[in-house]
Amino acid sequence: MRVLIVGGAGYIGSHVCKALAARGDEPVVFDNLSRGHDHAVQWGPLVRGDIRNAEELDAAFEAHQPAAVMHFAANIEVGEGQKEPLAFWDNNVAGVVSLLQAMKRAGCSSLVFSSTCATYGTPQSLPLTEDEPQTPINVYGRTKLAVEQLLADVSSAEDLRYAALRYFNASGASPDGEIGEEHDPETHLIPNALKAAAGLGGPMKLFGTDYDTADGTCERDFIHVMDLAAAHLAALDRLLSGAGSFQCNVGTGTGYSVKAVLDTVERVTGLPVPHDIHGRREGDPPRLYADVTRSRQLLDFQPQYSDLETIIRDAWNFHRIAWGVEAVKTG
Ligand SMILES: NC(=O)c1ccc[n+]([C@@H]2O[C@H](COP(=O)([O-])OP(=O)(O)OC[C@H]3O[C@@H](n4cnc5c(N)ncnc54)[C@H](O)[C@@H]3O)[C@@H](O)[C@H]2O)c1
Repeated sequence: MRVLIVGGAGYIGSHVCKALAARGDEPVVFDNLSRGHDHAVQWGPLVRGDIRNAEELDAAFEAHQPAAVMHFAANIEVGEGQKEPLAFWDNNVAGVVSLLQAMKRAGCSSLVFSSTCATYGTPQSLPLTEDEPQTPINVYGRTKLAVEQLLADVSSAEDLRYAALRYFNASGASPDGEIGEEHDPETHLIPNALKAAAGLGGPMKLFGTDYDTADGTCERDFIHVMDLAAAHLAALDRLLSGAGSFQCNVGTGTGYSVKAVLDTVERVTGLPVPHDIHGRREGDPPRLYADVTRSRQLLDFQPQYSDLETIIRDAWNFHRIAWGVEAVKTG
């Protein structure tokens, strides 16, 4: 089966391409390479194009005739969204309008969409179920919620079935070190802790040590990118088997603290993590972790790689090669 992977040159999309190819499917990447990397496109063709360009999309659908679309392309850096809301609404929302129009012209009606736990905002109760009110607290989260609403509207009137997967914290890398997380700027905790441990770029910033959590630092639900990829394949299969549209958390149901992450990075790398302690960052909830009932029910989803040690070992395995770091100890 051929699948159009929009944003497939990026972190999560490239791992999904690898997982699709491993089971015999054909990923075709559509990406403008604004943030992704052509070296991450290894399991099928790369079509260079922008989702806001109808002609480029039409040409890709015409040439490759995909059975379904997985949509990863977006502006993802929360702080950037606060400074450049127009760019975020243009790419993250207008871009999806353009993609849906192209899917309609091509007669392609199945879509897996990258949503996020950021659509919930500050949780009123934990673990976070899909029924939690969606009240995002930043531009990024609002654009993702807007797309969920757009998809609901379009699917109720037109021939579209979709899965909106609300990821928690994507992390880790392909265990063979072939691909991994290469954001620029990198704002995610684990790569930044590894970078600090490797002595690259100075101490990392630790925001807030006085939260009402076991060790005072924030707790997050880290999902290994291999597990995330497996959830995408299950969501795709569910849609193509004729099931209706659905929204679903993809997390583990367990929160790990920032301090637990730093301790594990030190253990896995054998290196200290230099860090400076700062005050709380505005908009950071103390705890976020998923209720995983629906992902178990709908996707038969059971994470295989998402214990913190494996996540950090795989991320380090990728980064130390990418950064040319001699490992003191590889865990
Ligand atoms: N990384 C996480 O922890 C996380 C968590 C929740 C949700 N998500 C969502 O998952 C998706 C993928 O995240 P990622 O970490 O892989 O991001 P990424 O930046 O690594 O990948 C995004 C890809 O989309 C491409 N792209 C961006 N705009 C485009 C456009 N207009 N046309 C064509 N291609 C375009 C980029 O070049 C890049 O290759 C995003 O939608 C993000 O919001 C990510």
